[in-house]
Amino acid sequence: MTGAASTPAGTGIPLVSGASGQGGHFAEFCANPALFLSRAYRENGEICQFDLNGLRNILLVSAEAHEAVFRAPDELLSAAEAYQMMVPVFGEGVQYGAPPELERQQLKMQARGLRQDRMKLYAAVIAREVQDWLADWEDEGELDIYEAFTRLTLKTSTHCLMGEEFRYTLTEEFADLYHELEASVSPAALRDPDALGEVAARRDRARARLAQLIGERVAQRRASGAQHPDMLQVYMDARYEDGRALSEDEIAGMVIWFMFAGHHTSGNTSSWTAVELARHPGHAAAIAAEVDELYSRNTELSRNALKEIPRLQAFIMEVLRLHPPLVTLTRRALQDFHYRDYVIPAGSNVMASPYVAHRLPQTFPQPDRFDPTRPEPDNVFAFIPFGGGHRKCVGNAFAILQVKAIFCALLRDYAFELVDAPDSYRDYMPSLILRPSEPCRLRYRRRRST
Ligand code: HEM
Repeated sequence: MTGAASTPAGTGIPLVSGASGQGGHFAEFCANPALFLSRAYRENGEICQFDLNGLRNILLVSAEAHEAVFRAPDELLSAAEAYQMMVPVFGEGVQYGAPPELERQQLKMQARGLRQDRMKLYAAVIAREVQDWLADWEDEGELDIYEAFTRLTLKTSTHCLMGEEFRYTLTEEFADLYHELEASVSPAALRDPDALGEVAARRDRARARLAQLIGERVAQRRASGAQHPDMLQVYMDARYEDGRALSEDEIAGMVIWFMFAGHHTSGNTSSWTAVELARHPGHAAAIAAEVDELYSRNTELSRNALKEIPRLQAFIMEVLRLHPPLVTLTRRALQDFHYRDYVIPAGSNVMASPYVAHRLPQTFPQPDRFDPTRPEPDNVFAFIPFGGGHRKCVGNAFAILQVKAIFCALLRDYAFELVDAPDSYRDYMPSLILRPSEPCRLRYRRRRST
């Protein structure tokens, strides 16, 4: 079917225009989910539906609707059913590949490793990585900031996760294997992760080899009896409520889950933060002054990154408003789900979209304007870069700490300028995570001699 919006019988929910006979809206969605969902909202408002290869998806866009979705119990709206494509990546028996009761306990283990009292440990690790990274910088130069932050956050993630010995023996092999896993998570995998042919076969080989590498590390640690201040140790020491420890394959799955959740989300947010700083020199100068003031009282980066840095934090929040790395937050309705007068049939996907929601003019006046001074919306479900409710991101404090640490170090010594035309830096979605378009070149200059 092609043409204007219509209302399929029985649901009362308008259908997004432009579906093709085969695949429905699949091709347009896969080409760029952010643009497709924006169009769907413009055309239909708070609720609409679209078809991904025969799977009904309902997009809900408003603070009230997000609250209804995020507060719904898993037995009604299931994240596990919606994200089954992650099961071969993290492994059977981990997160959405585990029974809900085990998954709940595993999530608590992840949260335990990310508790506020551990942030000091991670701040020191991240500070060391950032300082090592900056040691090679000249007084001025040009770099692809997306590539640079992708590499840096791979190092910080593996360092906090797997510890010092692993990080400093980090091989190309580990990065390549992790890359193979990432390549299997694309919009096309949403419908059927095994329809990926050779990509899926490479994913499975990479998952098996990663599990072997992580297993070797666990065995070495167990043999030495030493305790380490990292997430791997948290997983090794964790116990389920019945007293059982995580198996080696479960530990590998937890490591991969953490990497997936935290690596690109933080790297892409850092990249967009650098681009927006270069686009807005007035705000950048004010934040640099704020950072100078911090350093005038204390020179230690790891301590400064743990402090309130209000202007920098507000800037990062505005980056997350306009460029939220996760564009679609999805659940599968296991029973009919009622929202206002609508009945969303069991079996449908229900989607919230931070990208679309963060551009609502009634909540964010002049939504396309980058304005870090704009007030926070009254309703917490209006601003959802980290999701909401019982599945809200457990790594949000870690993520903010990391981006703050990076810019606290960078802005102390460097200022950024755009290399290309301001409008050429665009949101881009080659995978399910939003990032800046390629190339993403910035020029950096030392602010003062040290
Ligand atoms: C700017 C960076 C980040 C953003 C924007 C972000 C965003 C999100 C969002 C939106 C969700 C909820 C997904 C949903 O409701 O379907 C989520 C979940 C999660 N995030 Fe983050 N995240 C970030 C960084 C991190 C980091 C650094 C970690 C780990 C250290 C992490 C760990 C997790 C985990 C474990 C979950 C799963 C929660 C669950 O399954 O219930 N995230 N994240």
